Formats: sequence, C-alpha cells, structure tokens
Amino acid sequence: MHPEHELSQDTKAILGLKLPTDPRWVNLAEKSLEEILTDHAYCEQKAATSCISLIQRYSRREELVHALAPIVTEEWGHFRLVLSELQKRGLKLGQQRKDEYVQALLDFQITGNAEEKRLLDQLLTMAMIEARSCERFKRLSDGLEDVYMKNFYRRFMESEAGHYTLFIELAELYIDKEKVRKRWNEWLEYEAAVMKTITVRGDRIH
Ligand SMILES: [Fe+2]
Ligand SMILES: [Fe+2]
Repeated sequence: MHPEHELSQDTKAILGLKLPTDPRWVNLAEKSLEEILTDHAYCEQKAATSCISLIQRYSRREELVHALAPIVTEEWGHFRLVLSELQKRGLKLGQQRKDEYVQALLDFQITGNAEEKRLLDQLLTMAMIEARSCERFKRLSDGLEDVYMKNFYRRFMESEAGHYTLFIELAELYIDKEKVRKRWNEWLEYEAAVMKTITVRGDRIH
C-alpha cells in the first residue's frame, strides 16, 4: 500500500484526465451493484490478458516482460477478488458486455509498421484505461455509503494508480520522453472527447 503522501501524488497524476466523471455516475452505479461488479470483473480480466499479449508481442524487450509479468498476477488477483465478491452476494458473473470505451480507445491507436509508435500507443492505451479506472474507483470509494464497499474500491484505486505510473514509465524507458509527453497529451484530449460521447450508465466502469 502506498503511504498517504505518495497516494495523493498519484491522485494528482490522475487529475491529468481532462474530464472528470459525471458525479451522477456514482449514484447510478450504487443502484446496479451486480452489473457494475460484473463489468469490473471483466475489466480486470482484460487487463490481465492485455498484459499477456504485450509480453508475447514484445518478448525481446526484457524490462517490459519483467515489469508486466507480476502485473498479470495482480490483475488476475483483482479478477478473483471481484468474482468472490459476486459469489458472496449470491450474484453471478454473467456475460461480458461490449466495451464501447475501450473500443473507442483502440480506434485511436496507430497501427502499421512503425514498431516504436505502435508500442508507445499500446502502452499509453493501458495507461489511459488504468488512469480512468483509478478515477472511477476513487469516485466509488469517496461516494458510496457502504463502508465495506468504500474500502473495497479504495484498494483497487491504489493499485491502478501504481499501474498507470508503470505504463508511463515503461513508455519513457523505450521512447524519448518528449515524444511520450506529446502523445500522452493527445491521448488525454482524445479520451475526454470519448467520455463526452458515452452515455452515463451505472452498469459500466467506463
Ligand atoms: Fe486491476
Ligand atoms: Fe491495473
């Protein structure tokens, strides 16, 4: 767990997001706990599989492989935490939903042969999702009435803040810092525009 002062630094970094979550979202989420837990479970699962894909794709980049290997375990642990929370409440995992938010982010990724640009965008996509998820978990942790659930989401918030930082650091390890910063700003602008187009719903983490 991060000491308080570090956590507030992380939280500050998340505020790099250009558009804060609509405050109505927490109230909606509170009313659809089963759906939000299901959606959350799949987010964690996707985080684990995305890290595995990155390891497979960039297996020659040793630092990336060693940095992401434990994240796979951590994200899978998150999935299991959410799964057992569902089970405890007699709720089912249910079906995976189409993830409009992630799809919109993937549409912004540069594809093609320029490996460095592709790598950068893939790392920044991960950082973006971590940052927004962290902000959403913070909203839940701050806004929910239930003390148990406030703490439940706080743990995820802390963990995803660390992941956000890790993906940015990995990008800076392989790519010129100035290029990372410039592209990250483009991602932040784009993500804010995406958020504006997505309907506020209580059954989605994003
Ligand atoms: Fe996670
Ligand atoms: Fe994460």
